[in-house]
Amino acid sequence: MTSTAHMTSDGPPGPAVQAPAARAARISKAYGRGDARVVALDEVSLNLERSRFTAIMGPSGSGKSTLMHCMAGLDSVDSGEVFVGDIEVTRLDDKRLTRLRRDRIGFVFQAFNLVPTLTALENITLPLDIAGRKPDQTWLDTVVDTIGLRDRLKHRPSELSGGQQQRVACARALVSRPEIIFADEPTGNLDSRSGAEVLSFLRNSVREMGQTVVMVTHDPVAAAYADLVVFLADGRVVDQIPEPTAEKVLERMKGFELPGVTS
Ligand SMILES: Nc1ncnc2c1ncn2[C@@H]1O[C@H](COP(=O)(O)OP(=O)(O)OP(=O)(O)O)[C@@H](O)[C@H]1O
Ligand SMILES: [Mg+2]
Repeated sequence: MTSTAHMTSDGPPGPAVQAPAARAARISKAYGRGDARVVALDEVSLNLERSRFTAIMGPSGSGKSTLMHCMAGLDSVDSGEVFVGDIEVTRLDDKRLTRLRRDRIGFVFQAFNLVPTLTALENITLPLDIAGRKPDQTWLDTVVDTIGLRDRLKHRPSELSGGQQQRVACARALVSRPEIIFADEPTGNLDSRSGAEVLSFLRNSVREMGQTVVMVTHDPVAAAYADLVVFLADGRVVDQIPEPTAEKVLERMKGFELPGVTS
């Protein structure tokens, strides 16, 4: 690949209007049948703009993980379309889906999902090794320096703190320069200091490397790292807050985090 990282430069070049890194167009997804049927996503449309950090929030069960999985090609939709770049994910067969996930998508899970027998560095380069690609050394160095773990590269996950492990997982998602990184509660298992390390890393990857990141979180402080917060409730997009602060997010959450309230 000859493409350079998409930078958030101060001016041109680049077209004025760019296609989003990923988008969902009226996607719906239900689980189960009959009485057990649950509509997880109800005609959700969402654009994830390039080089932007988007947070997805909403009550438990509102469809956040389902949305991430459907947009990342990890799960299928019942109707609607998902695009990553100009590729329609919802039309791909299994083989092409696997390739898309491998080459264009990074996913960071709540439970870091590192391979315990591999070192930090081996974990980071694993997706490239699987794809039979050689890491671009300059880029790898940039990623490693950004996560700030150069002196821990030979450590195994059990020898790293939670925050360090999750930063390795983020680096692994970044190393293949994916079109977009999906992170489902990446700080859910971390104390606030380790969480802040991971959030700063994700934000820096957007600011400094032009990455596109979308992250699910329950934490208003975490959401405030993002450029935009999108709220889901009952499988629908119900609100958005640009330039969020923790206070604004908390205020909005009060509106729907009340169990047992009926309208
Ligand atoms: N595999 C499944 N089978 C049946 N129902 C499912 C399945 N996965 C999710 N659901 C249901 O779909 C709805 C949305 O689930 P989802 O995991 O997307 O919620 P979420 O917003 O990520 O919640 P949380 O904040 O608790 O992680 C929920 O009602 C859930 O019970
Ligand atoms: Mg979830």
